[in-house]
Amino acid sequence: MPASVVVGGFFGDEGKGKIIAYLALKDKPSIAVRGGVGPNAGHTFTINGKTYKVRMLPSAVAYDKCMLMIGAGVLIDVHVLLKEVEEFNAQSRVRVDHQAGIIEDKHKHEDKHSKQSSIIGTTGSGSGPANADRALRLLKVAKDIDVLKDYLGDVSYLVNKALDDGEYVLIEGTQGTFLSLYHGTYPYVTSKDVTASSICADIGLGPKRVDDVILVLKSYVTRVGSGHLEGELSRDEAARRGWLEVATVTGRERRAAPFNFNLAARAVMLNSATQIALTKIDILFPECKHAKEYGELSKDAKEFIRSIEERLKVKVTLIGTGEDVYDIIDLREEKRREKEKVK
Ligand code: IMP
Ligand code: MG
Repeated sequence: MPASVVVGGFFGDEGKGKIIAYLALKDKPSIAVRGGVGPNAGHTFTINGKTYKVRMLPSAVAYDKCMLMIGAGVLIDVHVLLKEVEEFNAQSRVRVDHQAGIIEDKHKHEDKHSKQSSIIGTTGSGSGPANADRALRLLKVAKDIDVLKDYLGDVSYLVNKALDDGEYVLIEGTQGTFLSLYHGTYPYVTSKDVTASSICADIGLGPKRVDDVILVLKSYVTRVGSGHLEGELSRDEAARRGWLEVATVTGRERRAAPFNFNLAARAVMLNSATQIALTKIDILFPECKHAKEYGELSKDAKEFIRSIEERLKVKVTLIGTGEDVYDIIDLREEKRREKEKVK
């Protein structure tokens, strides 16, 4: 059984939470493990009308049987983590790598009040200052924190062992490709690389162990904080199109722009995407809301999907058609069979 990594193709908030929650419920991984920066990310998913938000646990918490792990590369906000563990009653299935970094109050304070943070428009979660301290080798790590001792584990070993044993592992990326410290719109980026390779490195998985890279692209582009956004709409126009969103972590309004094929193509390249999950197609084409089959999509929606596949040379295998995790068209089996036939 394979390992799949799910990453964002734009500036975060592409709908990774929903896609991961769906994949977990559908594919039943034995382990879901989170890479990425840390609690600056907010992932949202809705099941049967109830909405959940997570900033530390993998969104696969939606599926109640998998182990929930956090890789060494990730930063932990202990307060946020413990709250989520309690909310989801996940005590017995959480493992935090011994060497995950720890965000302290001083990091949050600096991130909320420094001039540089305000220029970048950070989330104020303490992530940047904590990663700076990690680079200086001053940062505390999870094994230094008493209240985490029941949750500690050797995540890289556990994940590699599960794969050796033929189990299925779902890897959750956070943020989005163009927030990458290396490959994004520097300096208006987050404090680490967040492309697929780094997400895997965060959890201690080598490049040959990943079978699928699922790139999540939203049907339009949004961005919070500073930095260039090509084709940015006015607030009124974004509202008129129903593209005005509010950020999960900070409550800030997101800026919006139309789907960007050039950025998407570059994200495909930077992440070596093998599949595309296209979210929120119902916002562009309301007639597609709640569709569960490809045949239910309108001509315009199909044309949009076709143009993405043609220009990006990657198949769109999952299509989000509404808020609920089951508002989705899952074409993975069909596309796999198509590919076999071509071979
Ligand atoms: P930081 O990661 O809090 O340092 O923020 C740096 C930039 O990344 C800011 O523009 C944030 O709004 C953005 N950012 C960080 N994490 C996320 C995320 O999960 N979704 C969307 N934007 C994010
Ligand atoms: Mg988010």
